[in-house]
Amino acid sequence: MTAPVTFLYKSDPVRGRIWAEVFQRHAPEIDFRIWPDVGNASSVRYLAAWEPPADIAERFPNLQVLFSSGAGVDQFDFAALPPDLPVVRMVEPGIIRGMVEYVTHAVLGLHRDMAAYRRQQKQAAWKPLQVKTAAERRVGVLGLGSLGQAVLTQLTAFGFECAGWSRSRHAVEGVQCFAGEGELGAFLARTDVLVCLLPLTDSTRGFLNAKLFAQLPRGASLVQVGRGPQGVDADLIAALDAGHLGEAVLDVTEPEPLPPEHPFWRHPHIQLTPHIASMTQPSSAAEVVIDNLRRFDRGEAMLGLVDRARGY
Ligand code: GLV
Repeated sequence: MTAPVTFLYKSDPVRGRIWAEVFQRHAPEIDFRIWPDVGNASSVRYLAAWEPPADIAERFPNLQVLFSSGAGVDQFDFAALPPDLPVVRMVEPGIIRGMVEYVTHAVLGLHRDMAAYRRQQKQAAWKPLQVKTAAERRVGVLGLGSLGQAVLTQLTAFGFECAGWSRSRHAVEGVQCFAGEGELGAFLARTDVLVCLLPLTDSTRGFLNAKLFAQLPRGASLVQVGRGPQGVDADLIAALDAGHLGEAVLDVTEPEPLPPEHPFWRHPHIQLTPHIASMTQPSSAAEVVIDNLRRFDRGEAMLGLVDRARGY
C-alpha cells in the first residue's frame, strides 16, 4: 500500500468545503483536509494557505509545495520557509474575471466622470460635462502578469488607448508595452488613467509617490488594486488636493482595515472599497491546483510558480 498523501487547506473554511468537493470529484486519491484537522502531519505533502503556520518546516517535514490561496504571496515570510520549497501563486479564472470586472467598472466610471456627477448630485446641480470617446482616453496598467493582461484585453475591447508597463519586456496584442525604469517616464506621460496591478516587493513599496504622480498628465486618475504599502498616502492626498490628480479609486490601503480617522475615508476625490476587487473562486481555484499537482507529479513546471528572488 502506498503512503497516503494529504493536501491541507488553511484558509476560509466555508470556501474550503467547496475545495473539498472538487478534490473528491477530481482527485479522490488525495486525502484533502481543512485546518485544523491536520491528520498525520508527516503525510502533509501540499499546503494551500493564506497564512501558513510559523513552524511550517518542523510541523510538516514532508511538505513538497506551498500554494497561496490568493493572487499575492507578499503575506508569506520567505525567510521562514524551507529554501527549496516551491511556492505557487493563485492564478485561476475566477480571480482574473473578478479583477477584470472591478477595473473595468472603475475605468468606465472615471472615463464617464461618475465621481463628478455624484458630487454634483449632492449640490442638486444638473450640469452635463463634455463626453470624451474611449479612444481619446489613455489607460495605462502597471504590471503585466495574468491580471494586468486580462484587464488590458477587456479595456482594449472598449476602445481605450491602452498601454502597459512592467519590469521585463512583455507583448500584449493591441497594447503599447513599456519596460523597465528607463521607459517608466514615457509610459506615465501618456497615461490618463493609471491602474496599479503590481505585486508588493521591495522595489514596489512606496512606488506610487509624488515623483511618479508628477510624471502623469494633469487631471490623471489612479485605480489602485495592487497592495496598500505601494502608496504614499500623503503624496496622493497632496496630488489630489493640488488638482494634479483628478480622482483615485482605492481597493487596498495600509493598514487594512483602514482606521476610521484616516483622511482617505472622507476625501471628496477618493472612492474606497475594502479590498474586494477580486477574490479566489473556490471551485475554479481547486481545479487549477489539482491541475498543478498533476504537472508537479509529471515533473512539469507549475502555473504561477514564484521566483523567490523576484518576490512574485
Ligand atoms: C487578494 O488580494 C489576493 O491576493 O488574492
